[in-house]
Amino acid sequence: MNSHFLALHDFNEIELYGMLTFALELKDKQKKRIPHRYLDGKTVALIFEKSSTRTRVSFEVGVFQLGGHGLFISSADSQMGRGEPVKDTARVMSRYCEGVMIRTFGQDIVEEFARYSSVPVINGLTDLFHPCQIMADIMTVIEHKRTYEGLKFAWVGDGNNMANTWIEAAAIFGFDLALACPKGYEPDQQVMAWAEAKAPGRITLTTDPKEAVKDADVINTDVWASMGQEAEQKKREKDFAGYCLDDSLLALAKPDSLVLHCLPAHRGEEISDSVIEGKNSVVWDEAENRLHIQKAIMATLIK
Ligand code: CP
Ligand code: NVA
Repeated sequence: MNSHFLALHDFNEIELYGMLTFALELKDKQKKRIPHRYLDGKTVALIFEKSSTRTRVSFEVGVFQLGGHGLFISSADSQMGRGEPVKDTARVMSRYCEGVMIRTFGQDIVEEFARYSSVPVINGLTDLFHPCQIMADIMTVIEHKRTYEGLKFAWVGDGNNMANTWIEAAAIFGFDLALACPKGYEPDQQVMAWAEAKAPGRITLTTDPKEAVKDADVINTDVWASMGQEAEQKKREKDFAGYCLDDSLLALAKPDSLVLHCLPAHRGEEISDSVIEGKNSVVWDEAENRLHIQKAIMATLIK
């Protein structure tokens, strides 16, 4: 198995499914207060070049529950923020810690970090991918629907890091994914080409949210302006008109469909308050599952 968790495409379905079942076991153990100290005495550095609520807290709490120590490092307060090369930071961290989680901008940064690191590196979000989040999302679907097989997944909104990771997941796990993205906001072309080659016909792209959501079992959306794109917020609000996941759009999906949102959410923009607070929404389970799946990923990779 790959020693780093940078992108889903480095793993096959059996490996990822193994982490999902392990996460369900760890969740059960945590609820029953059964010890599971897979990281006893180990330290995991948690490096953030972008803001976070869920990722920071779920990783810190997760490492603690595994018997280890999570070390929060903000790039702004470290030498990384003053330009110390990634490859130097990676080698130094490897001398102190048994694992590293990093949230940053380019996917090339996590790849370079991993190349120079002698300990496992986990991607806690880049501009291209958010693999821990999509694993938590699939875990949530398994809990509520027993399986992802045979389900129709829909994506409504920006072709961003979340959309790109869903595309990889659809190709690896083998489920249908219909994406609706406005013109000019399509997912990454290389990711689309990779997925089409791996699972021909599984992934479709339209500009019509209604078409994507029709008869869907799982609907997912995300903010219109991701971290780093704040200056484009106003333009994006215009360009994404008609892409709000509201009651009328949700009515086109199956009645028992699941609504996912990685959070933070902007009510009244990409999702209505009634939908995120409504009966189809499983966003709080989804947020909780970040904790359990990341514990499974760390316990699998960090030795
Ligand atoms: N979903 C997610 O990654 O949330 P944070 O940005 O709060 O970590
Ligand atoms: N697409 C969002 C996800 C936040 C968890 C972003 O990158 O800001």
